[in-house]
Amino acid sequence: MHTETHTGLESPKGVWWKPAHPTEKVWVGIAFAWCMVLFAMMPLWHWKGGQNPSGIRRRTEPAAYMKRVMEMVQQYGVGTDKGIPIVAPPPGSDVYLAAMTFQWTPVLKLQKGKQYTLHLSSLDMVHGFALYPINVNFMVLPGYDYGLRVTPNEAGDFRIICNEFCGIGHHTMVGRVIVEDAPATAAAPAAAAPAPGTPGTPGTNPAFAALAAGGAK
Ligand code: CUA
Repeated sequence: MHTETHTGLESPKGVWWKPAHPTEKVWVGIAFAWCMVLFAMMPLWHWKGGQNPSGIRRRTEPAAYMKRVMEMVQQYGVGTDKGIPIVAPPPGSDVYLAAMTFQWTPVLKLQKGKQYTLHLSSLDMVHGFALYPINVNFMVLPGYDYGLRVTPNEAGDFRIICNEFCGIGHHTMVGRVIVEDAPATAAAPAAAAPAPGTPGTPGTNPAFAALAAGGAK
């Protein structure tokens, strides 16, 4: 006789239908209270956290966006880095960064302490803009122009890492932002920046903090 076989038709042996122990009730109460605290923090952080991105958003078309990128490259191009154009747009200008499988174009050369409107858009699929080693993250969507007001506050050679899986070359999708002390000389070649692979010490480079700290508008 297989009397111990559990068929699912009868209740298994156990104590789970008995009243909960008082200690267990206390834990449920604590867990629920903490859930409420976290729930309240979401709207609180929205209003008080100072983390909302600043800037503008608008619709665009990949072809139209790429045209803006190419115009900027023609106007402010200062060289190339492994085939990717380097642009040094003047402070206060609109800067266009395009994401595509599997690269970021162009390389941006910005001046420390100067404000720019950094436009992000994708030419194909969803990519993720993560500025290493700084904690700045934005989704980059096709057809959507995300214009962020940014003020780099530390010089350095930064990497843009794609943080949305976008295909077989996702892990190779690395871009570059060079921040130089202002005023940058027009003749400064790309070589003036630190060599690739030597970004600032993680955790001590608050450049682009304005990205995250700007007020929503
Ligand atoms: Cu682009 Cu992952």
